[in-house]
Amino acid sequence: MANKQDPTAPASENTMWGGRFAAGPDAIMEEINASIDFDRKFYAQDIEGSRAHARMLHDQGILSSADHAAIDQGLCTILSEIESGQFEFSRSLEDIHMNVESRLAELIGPVAGRLHTARSRNDQVALDFRMWVRDQTDAAQVALLAFIRSLLEKAEEHADTVMPGFTHLQTAQPVTFGHHCLAYVEMMARDLSRFRDARERMNECPLGAAALAGTGFDIDRHATAQALGFREPTRNSLDSVSDRDFALEFLSAASICATHLTRMAEEIVIWSTPQFGFVQLSDRFSTGSSIMPQKKNPDAAELVRGKGGRITGSLIGLLTVMKGLPLTYSKDMQEDKEGVFDAAETLELCLAAMTGMIKDMTVNTANMAAAAGSGYSTATDLADWLVREAGIPFREAHHVTGRAVALAESQGCELSELPIADLQELHGDITEAVYEVLTVQASVASRTSFGGTAPESVRIQIKDWHARLG
Ligand code: ARG
Repeated sequence: MANKQDPTAPASENTMWGGRFAAGPDAIMEEINASIDFDRKFYAQDIEGSRAHARMLHDQGILSSADHAAIDQGLCTILSEIESGQFEFSRSLEDIHMNVESRLAELIGPVAGRLHTARSRNDQVALDFRMWVRDQTDAAQVALLAFIRSLLEKAEEHADTVMPGFTHLQTAQPVTFGHHCLAYVEMMARDLSRFRDARERMNECPLGAAALAGTGFDIDRHATAQALGFREPTRNSLDSVSDRDFALEFLSAASICATHLTRMAEEIVIWSTPQFGFVQLSDRFSTGSSIMPQKKNPDAAELVRGKGGRITGSLIGLLTVMKGLPLTYSKDMQEDKEGVFDAAETLELCLAAMTGMIKDMTVNTANMAAAAGSGYSTATDLADWLVREAGIPFREAHHVTGRAVALAESQGCELSELPIADLQELHGDITEAVYEVLTVQASVASRTSFGGTAPESVRIQIKDWHARLG
């Protein structure tokens, strides 16, 4: 469908500003200038914005009823031409705005030229892009919600499943897998609220700022804002055509979210190694090796981990494009789009892949439990017991426990396997009752503090999340 033109062909004259220009652009100029290959994505927003603008011009008595009817009908025809793949996009017409306007002139004649009254491509592109990004913040929230629900389901299923909790990727204390899943629920819910906040801020309509200074025509910006689903019009025409922080906020929320996803993806990669064996990915979300028949690779998780970098790259890219640009519009800003398109698409794919992986994966509870008990993971429970039952200061209890760990290590056994006599040699107040806190189950069950890992606490949090999400 793209009308890729022969770069050696003579450049055509541009009819939009033909009055000022004697010759058409150089082929290279056309190549560097054209954005139609990517900004055609805005066709629906562009036409919707034009229809709202034309209706407002009519309601304000700037456009006659007959002209408005012709323009509106023409715009609807163009929409169906584009949607049915019949529309011929032309690079010499630079971008989506001029492609649509030029086709409108073909369809309805010179009256098409009245549509651009009190408007400029500067407020037009600011509008189209904003509406497109606004849709993407909605889509991201829907995808995040689906992911959150799949995490909650896993958390519910595994509220009692014990696994090692790590710091420095070294076994720290036993936790529940449900609790671990809920950690990601928290992250994703904050991500969701970031998209929601960004949407709220971007929901102001720049249409009517015109080129940069506003217009002398008696337009009604509140009417167009309302017709296009915006809360209100933007308040400063200079800012309206030069601001792209709605896109930066989208990219920033996307980057933080993608960064969260890379952490879970990395954990899935680690957990699915034969060495860990905590989870098994379904065949649907893994691949085999062309040479090593035994292998099952977590490619989807690795790709989510990798694509996170790509999304953050788009954020840094746009920040760099915008840095130092004087007000108001500069053509640099045409470079604002492709990174956002790519990031939006990539984030959606990553969220869908993570949702699928989490739903499908098998949790090897036995392996998790075995690992949870190794590495002296209940050492803190021993120290806490000494504080609680023997009344000794935590620092001293920490010391006694350290000696117990060293002893167990030298005997090649777990803490719970040390004979009571050995423990009593370390501290006279230790009794048989200590063994009750040395099991992994007792350890997690004891952590009932608000937000703690106990199955009981995890179930409370899951219930709260269901109530919050409705
Ligand atoms: N294609 C342009 C862009 O994406 C539209 C705005 C052009 N404005 C201008 N003054 N040349 O930024």
